Amino acid sequence: MGFVVAIDGPAGSGKGTITKLVAEKRNLVSIDTGAMYRCVALDCLNNGIDVEDAKGIERILDKIQIELKKIDGEQKVFLNGKDVSKEIREPRVDEVVAKFAAVKQIRDKVTPMQREMGKTQNIIMEGRDIGTVVFPNADVKIFLDCSIEERANRRYKQNLEKGIQMTYEEVLENIKERNRLETERDIAPFVKPEDAITVDSTNMSIDEVVEEVLKIVDEKLHN
Ligand code: DC
Repeated sequence: MGFVVAIDGPAGSGKGTITKLVAEKRNLVSIDTGAMYRCVALDCLNNGIDVEDAKGIERILDKIQIELKKIDGEQKVFLNGKDVSKEIREPRVDEVVAKFAAVKQIRDKVTPMQREMGKTQNIIMEGRDIGTVVFPNADVKIFLDCSIEERANRRYKQNLEKGIQMTYEEVLENIKERNRLETERDIAPFVKPEDAITVDSTNMSIDEVVEEVLKIVDEKLHN
């Protein structure tokens, strides 16, 4: 087993950015588990498979290949050999991914894939159930929190940069609905791991959060 840092937190808490920066600074492989659920949702969407269609989902899962690769310093996501790094962030995926991520059959396939990734390398893995389900014995567990208004604000600004047209209110509603689906689902609900250290990023800059997380990681790395 490698050294495992688990970072859980809601959408818009800055997990993705923080994870990548901490990975670079401490030479850890960063793994975005949300991207994996996005791949499954995209594969189903592209094949016209509904979230209720257990047989169809089984066919998708039987042959799905998800790879997270660093190419020219950039993290890329490949679904069945195709670079889908951009596609998995499209609003059509945003709209359905939480529903697919709540399907037991899908989590039963994706969770072992994630555990496998921590066997042979030192990783920092971000998601919703990393410290609770995927790696309950992770060396470091961090819960990256942030107020819902600030999360919506950040997502709204990101959307503007990407040319995605949504009002702040729409973004806020979307985040609230996803939160509800993620925390109320029966399987691997999104909860703070009991033994995680909380870092609240609401009023912190990216650099400040990175510094705080590095402090926590270093304490374990050097002990
Ligand atoms: O972090 P994100 O928005 O890319 O995550 C996409 C979806 O997958 C979101 O609905 C939460 C879900 N997810 C999950 O259920 N478990 C994880 N470990 C990571 C993400």
